[in-house]
Amino acid sequence: MSDAILQASELYKFYGTAAGRFPVVREVAFAVERGRFVTIMGPSGSGKSTLLHMVSGLEPPSGGTVTLDGHDLYALSERRRTLLRRDTIGFVFQFYNLIPNLTVDENIRLPLLIGAEPGEGGPKDGLEGLVRDFGLEGKLKSYPHQLSGGEMQRVSIARALIAGPAILMADEPTGNISTSAGEEVMKLFRRSCDERGQTILLVTHNPRDAAFSDEVHFLKDGELHDEHALRGSDVTPSSIASALADLGI
Ligand SMILES: Nc1ncnc2c1ncn2[C@@H]1O[C@H](COP(=O)(O)OP(=O)(O)OP(=O)(O)O)[C@@H](O)[C@H]1O
Ligand SMILES: [Mg+2]
Repeated sequence: MSDAILQASELYKFYGTAAGRFPVVREVAFAVERGRFVTIMGPSGSGKSTLLHMVSGLEPPSGGTVTLDGHDLYALSERRRTLLRRDTIGFVFQFYNLIPNLTVDENIRLPLLIGAEPGEGGPKDGLEGLVRDFGLEGKLKSYPHQLSGGEMQRVSIARALIAGPAILMADEPTGNISTSAGEEVMKLFRRSCDERGQTILLVTHNPRDAAFSDEVHFLKDGELHDEHALRGSDVTPSSIASALADLGI
């Protein structure tokens, strides 16, 4: 039996323009098994953020279903969906979304302060362990504007993980930081998966990021190209590059 924390079936999203309704996500189906680090790769405008917003409960699909931790996400009331999201998903954004007038320490603790139920996968050694793993000792009393981009992104990932979400979702987490800071972020994702069993769903246009994951799926013009999907030891920089070339992206 599959042990998927997340399952998307036949997902569609249409947006309207003066020229009519057009699909930006078409017939997308995929699953994320617990404990896996899964990447969806695609160029700008391919529908990555739209897809991630639909599977995280932020944006209702035009068609199809999302099953998160055994719940049909859009069959729930809005209130129950919000609570499920809060207790199940840690979300990391490209532009950090830190609260400027809270310290690093307060930003990381925020999910607990607003009542997130600590999940089973929570950091065993709590805030101290996360702060140590993320190299944020000495920064706890700083404010976001006093940090580098890479440090801000590490704070936002620590915040996403503090309540032990069943799944970490990230939308272009390295899109706004240097290549070396981005590599540090991807190493943290890899270690969270390997050492804490953290399930991760990443969307990115960056092949270097994708190479850290257990599975890579390719999105082009709103469609997933399953025939090019890579898994396990097939996930290498060169196999990613050749899939992108085959797809013309
Ligand atoms: N609210 C909206 N209304 C109309 N069109 C939208 C809306 N949101 C997104 N789109 C369109 O849907 C398509 C996919 O957008 P999306 O943001 O999902 O792409 P993306 O892959 O995340 O791109 P990027 O890498 O640039 O972040 C784009 O053509 C975009 O213009
Ligand atoms: Mg996007």
